[in-house]
Formats: sequence, structure tokens, C-alpha cells
Amino acid sequence: MSYKLTDEQLMIQAMVREFSRKVVAPEAAERDQNKEFPAQILKKMGELGFMGMMIPAEYGGEGADTISYVLALSEIAYSCASTAVVMSVHNSIVCESIYHFGTEDQKQRYLKPLAAGKFIGAFALTEPHAGSNPVAQTTTAVRDGDSYVISGVKRFISTGKNAGLVIVTAKTDEALRHKGISAFIIPRKTPGMIVGRTEDKMGLRASDTTDLIFEDCRVPAENLLGQEGDGFKIVMKGLDSGRIGIAAQSIGVAQAALDAAVKYAKERDQFGQKICKFQGLRWIIADMATEIEAARQLMLSAASMKDRGEKYTAQASMAKLFASEMVNRVTAKALQMHGGYGFIKDYPVERFFRDARVFTIYEGTSEIQRIVISDHVLKDKRLS
Ligand code: CAA
Repeated sequence: MSYKLTDEQLMIQAMVREFSRKVVAPEAAERDQNKEFPAQILKKMGELGFMGMMIPAEYGGEGADTISYVLALSEIAYSCASTAVVMSVHNSIVCESIYHFGTEDQKQRYLKPLAAGKFIGAFALTEPHAGSNPVAQTTTAVRDGDSYVISGVKRFISTGKNAGLVIVTAKTDEALRHKGISAFIIPRKTPGMIVGRTEDKMGLRASDTTDLIFEDCRVPAENLLGQEGDGFKIVMKGLDSGRIGIAAQSIGVAQAALDAAVKYAKERDQFGQKICKFQGLRWIIADMATEIEAARQLMLSAASMKDRGEKYTAQASMAKLFASEMVNRVTAKALQMHGGYGFIKDYPVERFFRDARVFTIYEGTSEIQRIVISDHVLKDKRLS
């Protein structure tokens, strides 16, 4: 890899790779089949510091940089994309949002146990009729004395059933559009927050995706994250970081698909020779490896901009856009190289192909990333 990683970044990558291959990989296919949430694995990941990677030690985290984090996330995704999405939303969106916008009390009360992996965080923005356009959300938060009363329905919430805490957005002032959206920290057992239906998905089947229903859910005013009206900004900042995480997930799955395809091509004989000897397949392998490396460089570039404190919104969108579309091409090619064996569950590429499909959709579709990127280009904002 041409990007020069530090000894510490390489050490973290090696440590997570070993854990991922030994602990996360072995039953990933069974968990996918049975829709089994990786609770025990996530507990171990918490103990090893993977659930608060970018949070400083004073709040229970590891104080690692974003580059170390995305390398780690890719390694987890290599073995199990379902486990990786839980790690990603928890680290990039939930922990970081509380770290950047929370009060000292919120950090002590919620961030510390989150960063130590005592429970998992989820993030509830999307609604049945508000996906790409979060301003159209209709969940409301009405101030009543020392509380807010939250009512509405959130949809497609990753880890909705298994989270110990959810950051939820709601409208505090309809007339103010973006500035009328606020964010709240809502612990799991809060009365009025009800877990609705769990989706039956084509991929990421070991991670739960649910509705969250709010029926007069009363939350203390002290659980407001940031100020009233900060919700949209908090979410967008969280998604900037989250989108580098989706690139990391994409790269992990793509690398796993390439490795599986290469292994198969070196073993499979047809027409009297290993199929990796055929130029037609060698060229496909070369294209797959090149695309993965290009995505990796975009991811590392966006992550290093974040680490340097630069504005990286467009670069995060570029990394997410390219990597998520790349992994769909790479997993399709890896499946094709397996012939009929790619279409059955005995080989992992079938799962990789299904898991990859959502990466161009969640945390902002490819179309939304193109809006963000073209907006920066048209406003002639500096991109390099
Ligand atoms: N950081 C900080 N502030 C930002 C920002 C960013 N990245 N992007 C926008 N803002 C601010 C703007 O500066 C602006 O502020 P002012 O009013 O003070 O000027 C305000 O937010 C509104 O910005 P826009 O006019 O650009 O907003 P818009 O309504 O046109 O929408 C959008 C922009 C990029 C399309 C945005 O709506 C978007 O990203 N949509 C996709 C939502 C999304 O990704 N949903 C995924 C759901 S989460 C998920 O998938 C989770 C999971 O579990 C895996």
C-alpha cells in the first residue's frame, strides 16, 4: 500500500485482523443464515477497545486516529459485514456525536459506557417517508416543563432492537426546517420508545434493522444533544464520519471477495489447467485489485483529512461513493469467477454479494453522494 502507515496504525490493523479471522469469521455464515446478532463478539470487541476507538481515554476510549479506525473496521468487515455495520454506526455516528456535541454530564453518563462497549449505540434519523431528505421527517419533540415528549416513527434503524441507547432526531420547530430539528439521547428502557418490526433483509442479516416507534416518549430536557435546532448539523457531521466507515466496510468485503476468488481460481481445473491461468480471468483479477486499491486510497485520504482537522465532507462522499459501487462490481465478478459454486451458500462469495448491495444505499445513496460532491465542485470549493 503506497500510503505510509505509522507503526501504531499497522499494529492496530494486525491486531484486529488476527481477532477478526480467529473470532469473527468462523461462524459468520451461520449467523447470516440464522439472523443471529453477534452479541458475544461485540462484547469481546468492547473489551478490546474496538467500540470507542476514536474517543479519548478520559472518556473510556482508545484515542486512536481515524486511519487506525477505518483499517480496523475494514478488517472486521472482511470477516462479517453485519458485525462491521454495528461497529461503524456505534463508533462513527453515536460515540463521535456525543463526544463532539455532548455536555460533560452526557459524556460521563453515556459516552463512557458506550466507548467501553458496555452497550451499543444506534442512530434514528430515517422515517417511512423521509430517507434521502431528512428535513421531511415528522417525528416531533414538544417541550413540556423539564422534559421533551417525542412522538413518531423511525424506520430502517440499524441495531434498533439490540442498542442500549439511541440518538433520535425530532422536530422541535416545524417552521425552521433544518434548524427546527433537534437530537436526543434516549436510553433503551425509556417508556414510550417501542421496537417495531424487524426487517427481513437480503444482506447484513446478522445485524437487526427495525422500526422504532415513539408514543409520547418523555425524555428529560438534559438529554437534548447540543442545542435545540442543532440536530441536522449533528447528523450531517456524524454522517461525514460514517461515510468513511461505509467505504471501510466496502473495502473489507471487496478484499474478502477478491481473496476468495483468487483461492478458487488457483484450485479449480478446467480445460486441463487451473482457471487462474486463463488471461480472461487474470484481467478480471487485475481490475478487482486495482479498484480495491483506488478505494483504499480515497478512504485513507478522507480519514487523514479528518485527522488533520480539515473539512472532509466531499472527500468522505467520494470515498463512500466509489468504494460502495466498487464492492458491488468486485463481489459480482468474484461470484462469476466461481461459476455455479458462486450461486450457492457453500462458498462465501454469495454472502459477500448480498451484503455489499446496501452499501450504495445506506448512510446516503450514491445519488445523494453525487449531490454532495457536485455541490462542492459547483461552488468551486477546494477538493485537493
Ligand atoms: N456538516 C455540517 N453541516 C452541514 C453539512 C455537513 N456535512 N451538510 C449540510 N450542512 C448544513 C448546511 O451548512 C446548512 O446549514 P445553514 O442552514 O446554516 O446554511 C444546512 O446543513 C442545510 O444544508 P443543505 O441545504 O445542503 O441541506 P439539504 O436539505 O439540501 O440536504 C443532503 C443535504 C446532503 C441531501 C442531506 O439531506 C443528506 O445527506 N441526505 C441523506 C441522508 C442520509 O444519508 N440518510 C442516511 C440515513 S442514516 C443510515 O443509513 C444509518 C445506518 O443505520 C447505517
